[in-house]
Amino acid sequence: MSAGAAKAAALDLADPLRGKRDLFQLPAGIIYLDGNSLGPPPKAAFAELEQAARREWGEGLIRSWNDAGWWSLTDTLGDRIGRLIGAAPGETVVTDTTSINVFKALHAALALRPQRHLILAERDSFPTDLYIAEGVAASRPGAELRLAGDNADLADMIDERTAVVLINHVDYRTGALHDMAHLTRCAHQAGALVVWDLCHSAGIVPIELDTLDVDFAIGCTYKYLNGGPGAPAFIFANRRHHDGLVQPLSGWWAHAAPFAMESGYRPAAGIRRLLCGTQPILSLRALKAALDVLDGIEIKAIRAKSLALTGFFMELVEPICREFGARIITPHNDSRGSQVAIALEQAYPVVQALIARGIIGDFRAPDIMRFGFAPLYLGFREVADAVAALHDVLASGAWRDPKFSTKALVT
Ligand SMILES: Cc1ncc(COP(=O)(O)O)c(C=O)c1O
Repeated sequence: MSAGAAKAAALDLADPLRGKRDLFQLPAGIIYLDGNSLGPPPKAAFAELEQAARREWGEGLIRSWNDAGWWSLTDTLGDRIGRLIGAAPGETVVTDTTSINVFKALHAALALRPQRHLILAERDSFPTDLYIAEGVAASRPGAELRLAGDNADLADMIDERTAVVLINHVDYRTGALHDMAHLTRCAHQAGALVVWDLCHSAGIVPIELDTLDVDFAIGCTYKYLNGGPGAPAFIFANRRHHDGLVQPLSGWWAHAAPFAMESGYRPAAGIRRLLCGTQPILSLRALKAALDVLDGIEIKAIRAKSLALTGFFMELVEPICREFGARIITPHNDSRGSQVAIALEQAYPVVQALIARGIIGDFRAPDIMRFGFAPLYLGFREVADAVAALHDVLASGAWRDPKFSTKALVT
């Protein structure tokens, strides 16, 4: 047994989350290192979908809006996500997509700072955040989007003209974890508000939104929360902003009396103002099953294993990077999420060659291999096996096969 395999065996034995893997449906022969993009299905999601579709929809029909709690799923699931992100009950709803929630949060923030006109964001932000911010700026007379080159610049750029700062908690490419306490403080000191994108940190990094007095946060539920492809996103608004919450997608679910069918809009009280229209109940129910898996697990325990998995991967992969001219671009200290990114000229075909062997990571342009480590269903042995396969793909030149260079639609 290699030293890596022996260490992996010892780490697996001592892993308190080891038993959680059985709760997930994962195909045999696959090492899944892409839970940072799409989490696998919790087995209970299938039964939950069956129940929601056959019993509640099929038999309960429209009665299920009340009888099965469909109407309030946005709030009940929102509060359960709230527990994971340090939000009090009544501050989070599950609804719409991350992109749409960025739109609502930015508009709400601008409305709370009417004398200011700047939206600040990172140039390396996940593109949808920037595209939406561009759209918001274009739709508000005088509003302007400014982009910062990196984290330090972002803090420096915040001034008395800044209405809102939109920040990714974890950089989707490099895996770097931004300092939420520091950047939120910088924004507040200048009188600006913050919107945090938690797509790559919800369910995997301890987050204290209320303690840090964060204004708004948004995030998806299909990555580390395992809610399924296209699962509805969430949006958080600090309770102190609820009375002044305004957002332009003022649909009937955000109305004070949705079934009064009034012709004019009157905002609902509290966080429900951030809803818009009818939600995908079947998807919400898959998410409910996924959140059940997290019940009783402390994010601190997930974080400890996440750091151990990514640390172990970096330790094993470092010599391989040196041998083949690759470079780990994820921070080695604890300022990282749960993925490791490696820059390598041949990143695309190497990732494809790994996928052909059942080791699923992904590629991000121009030259990055991303490997995500989800502590609920990954073990250390799999990390060691994945690194061994990476070495083999590089050393054998297997990645040179032309079939690995054909670009797929989703990479
Ligand atoms: C940081 C971040 N924001 C937003 C999104 C996507 O938003 P949406 O769910 O609206 O497609 C992603 C998707 O990977 C992401 O990584």
